[in-house]
Amino acid sequence: MRLSFNTAAGLITMASLGSVGFASFLMGQSSSSDSDSAITFYAPKGSDVWYNSMDGQPMTHQSFAAEAANSDTGMSAAAGLWSGLPVIATYVPHQENSRKPLVENEPRFQFQDGFTSSGAYVGSGYEIDEKEEYASLSIHDNMIIIFSRCPHLCCIPGWQLVNNDFTADNWYPGGTDSGGNKLFCICHSSRYDPTVIEKNRNRNRSSGAEFDYIGIKRTGGPAPVGMPLIPFVVNGDLIEALPDFKDWYTFCA
Ligand code: FES
Repeated sequence: MRLSFNTAAGLITMASLGSVGFASFLMGQSSSSDSDSAITFYAPKGSDVWYNSMDGQPMTHQSFAAEAANSDTGMSAAAGLWSGLPVIATYVPHQENSRKPLVENEPRFQFQDGFTSSGAYVGSGYEIDEKEEYASLSIHDNMIIIFSRCPHLCCIPGWQLVNNDFTADNWYPGGTDSGGNKLFCICHSSRYDPTVIEKNRNRNRSSGAEFDYIGIKRTGGPAPVGMPLIPFVVNGDLIEALPDFKDWYTFCA
């Protein structure tokens, strides 16, 4: 099992990145480890990220809130690992901004219709509050956890690891490709807006079976669709993932 994290310097390929957990997870094998729910920071080697000093430590809600206060947009995000899966945890000041006028640099989560790359309607991001099956994804604690593998060719998109217009610390409403604070895949420049929740469709790479999922929106580049969410809880201050939707993380398996 090898995974590639994007860094400012290019790609770092990592061998055995929690591969036992990753493999057992995707193959549906249960594990009894107490740490299954933990999400730990993963600071891409050679990068200068705000969580360098916390590399390998469990993610805490407070660390994201504190880092967001250093941002012009009030957002923060970090790469991490959950049972060997690459994730990006993203903090958005949703509670503070959701009732304000929808203007530049006042980010909040938005809910949109999702369409496949061929234009077929799949569903609405509002289903996280409308359908019981997605209830664990209802927005809470100003955060979402994203399974971070690019549906194009399975590289691992990053948060502000390279400097360009897509990664700048600004935010435009509407889920367009304009503005910054996108998750950016350095392999072929796919972009994702972590503030737009939609329902879309992908395919299990092993079985070929299609599945619908709730995730963030792809806004540009060659990726066909966006990336799925991982439900979580904040336990004390620790961010802990929930294994409700394992099938959604199989498009690169
Ligand atoms: S693998 Fe991400 S854009 Fe190609």
